[in-house]
Order: sequence, then structure tokens, then C-alpha cells
Amino acid sequence: MRVNHVGEVCAQALYIGQSMATKNGELSLKLQAAARDETDHLAWTQRRLDELGARPSLLNPLWYLGSFALGWLAGRSGDAISLGFVVETERQVEQHLDEHLERLPAADQRSRAIVAQMKSDEARHAEQARQAGAVELPSPVRWGMQAAAALMTRTAHHL
Ligand SMILES: [Fe+2]
Ligand SMILES: [Fe+2]
Repeated sequence: MRVNHVGEVCAQALYIGQSMATKNGELSLKLQAAARDETDHLAWTQRRLDELGARPSLLNPLWYLGSFALGWLAGRSGDAISLGFVVETERQVEQHLDEHLERLPAADQRSRAIVAQMKSDEARHAEQARQAGAVELPSPVRWGMQAAAALMTRTAHHL
């Protein structure tokens, strides 16, 4: 759940960075709306961490800053690429949440409900970005994002 919490810290920062970088006012509002969903996700995972007596990642300020910068860069690369970045990020998050659902004990209904709801929200974010004109990112960029996500996941297990 700590990994999910870090993920939502990043998601929120990415969306805010992207919304600030775009010159398209309508898109900026949409990105801000998605960022608010991620803020909800952050609150749910935070509450669940508290209930489980677990602490959030110590590196969250770092994750936030890094993600904000990345979101801003994506936003500056143009709207279609920025939206493509949303699609790819949400696709990877969805995949992670799917794997997490498989590993979560069947008895942990509260965690399962949170993860399932987030997964459906992330799918909606990706779909909205697709419809808004996302382009597919080149493979090396997607691999780079995957590597960064894997590093984040592994680190958040420990720190
Ligand atoms: Fe989320
Ligand atoms: Fe999302």
C-alpha cells in the first residue's frame, strides 16, 4: 500500500506539472480535474496506511518534486505528447494495480476496494486522454518510464 501511496503522490504531481505547462486552458482544467482524483486516491491510500499502522515513504518530497518536473517537461513537449504520457502512465499504473489485486489477501476487503476503485479511475483517465488526442510515445520513452516506475516501486518497498 505504501507503493500505491507513492504512486498517487507522483500521479498528482505529474498532472499538476502538466496542467501548469500547457497553454491550452481547456486541457489544463481537465488535467487539474484528474489531479483532484489523484488527491482522493492519495487520501484513501494514506488512510489505509494509517489503519495498517504503516508509514508512508520517507522519499515522498523527492518523488513529488521529480514527478512535478517530469510532468512539466511532458507538458512543454506539446499537448499530444503530454496526453500520450498520461495514457502510458495510467496504463502502467493499471497494470501495477492489477498485479497488486492478485497479491492482496482475499480477506483484506478494504484494501481491495480501494485498489479496485483506483484502477477504474486510472482507466478512465487514460481513456479521456486518448479521446483528447494522445499520441503513442516512442518505445524507448515507454521503456524509460517503465524503468523509472520499477525503481520507484522497489525503493518504496524499503524507504
Ligand atoms: Fe491514482
Ligand atoms: Fe490517474
